[in-house]
Amino acid sequence: MNFHLVSIFPHFFESPLGSGLMSKAVDTGLVGLDFVDVRQFAGGVYKSVDDRPFGGGPGMLLKLDPMVKALDSIPSRGRILMLSPRGKPFTQAQARELALEDDVTLICGRYEGIDERLLDLYPVELVSVGDFVLNGGEAAAVCLVEAVARLLPGFMGHEESGDEESFSAGLLEYPHYTRPEEFDGLTVPEVLRSGDHGRITAWRREQSLTATLRDRPDVLPTARLTVEDIDFLRRLPRTRLGRNLYIALCHYPVTNKFGEKVAVSVTNLDLHDMARVARSYGLGGFYATTPIEDQKALAERLLGHWREGAGAQANPDRAEAFAKVKVFDDIEGAVLDIEAQTGQRPRFAATSARLDRRKQAQPALTFGDVRSWLANSPVLLIFGTGHGLAEEVLSKTDGIVRPLRYLDDYNHLSVRSAVAIIVDRLVADEY
Ligand SMILES: C[S@@+](CC[C@H](N)C(=O)[O-])C[C@H]1O[C@@H](n2cnc3c(N)ncnc32)[C@H](O)[C@@H]1O
Repeated sequence: MNFHLVSIFPHFFESPLGSGLMSKAVDTGLVGLDFVDVRQFAGGVYKSVDDRPFGGGPGMLLKLDPMVKALDSIPSRGRILMLSPRGKPFTQAQARELALEDDVTLICGRYEGIDERLLDLYPVELVSVGDFVLNGGEAAAVCLVEAVARLLPGFMGHEESGDEESFSAGLLEYPHYTRPEEFDGLTVPEVLRSGDHGRITAWRREQSLTATLRDRPDVLPTARLTVEDIDFLRRLPRTRLGRNLYIALCHYPVTNKFGEKVAVSVTNLDLHDMARVARSYGLGGFYATTPIEDQKALAERLLGHWREGAGAQANPDRAEAFAKVKVFDDIEGAVLDIEAQTGQRPRFAATSARLDRRKQAQPALTFGDVRSWLANSPVLLIFGTGHGLAEEVLSKTDGIVRPLRYLDDYNHLSVRSAVAIIVDRLVADEY
């Protein structure tokens, strides 16, 4: 397989791509490295490859002309990739895909990057090696070349090496140990010295699962997990952010479709479904708030039915869900209750189906913002009935969570659906 490395600093690659297994692969012809020096294609006395950007701003840009000539000098370019922090993140799956190619051309930027019109002239795919900014694309290209080349049959000497590694099965790899068996009082885990291959395989799988849940839970959704894996993961300790999350359904003050302040009736359906969400996601609690006496009485009757009455007899798991529900006059009552339970005043976030277009409105809270609050303090997430929470509630909160489906104009979900989706986005299992 041939890599064509297009760069203004081709010497950069000498050491990293001239060592270890890579140099062996080049010697045996498994990997071909073709260094294309862009400066050689620059005109003028100074062979200048860069110029100032139109529109101003700091730094210089690589010019089109030498870059185009450099690319055109490559007889068989194959796929053209440009290293760029703006690119799609490079992954093990992509490395596997590229390892099937005969030729890959890698364009390395420098300074502020390359004149954008290069992307109009060639079918260039932008790839990033991480959310950070390097001085140039060369170090990133080395990462990519190594990741791809080591997957070529014959590169590593023992073919199975690549299959067990991190990301290959959607999990991080298990830890390794070598001689001596004891170092400064630290011993190699007994199971690895037992010679029992069944136990060793099981131990390694469990170590992979433990490390992935602890360090990279975001990769778990791509892992193919067996029932045994999931049973094992369930037994592991993990942060339960949901315990800090409290939800409230506010029945007054909310608005009607004319923007007037109104009260909305309590419904069995809302209490029922939100209680089940609160229990399923292990939330701290669920408050239904209304100052209207007959509505409070209705809510208490509904709760009684499901907690102690016929509903509880027929569905004991509903009784468990309804144990989470409390009825208060207003949000302040819920706040005092959370304070009494946790010793901390909760942070408040409101929810709304509409973007906040009030003058001086802050940008909406992201789910990440609320998740970071949950790590340190209780959070009360307030949902409205009717046409949404009234201004006097919104103005007391620490922010409004970005609406669901905010890139589309029709997002009229029932409050029950919105509760389920928002709570899931905040505290769902990563697997
Ligand atoms: C200083 S950077 C230019 C950054 C550019 N102004 C931006 O903010 O996107 C110079 C070159 O380094 C390379 N580079 C920097 N960070 C990278 C990353 N995370 N992944 C891949 N290439 C990167 C690119 O080739 C880029 O053109």
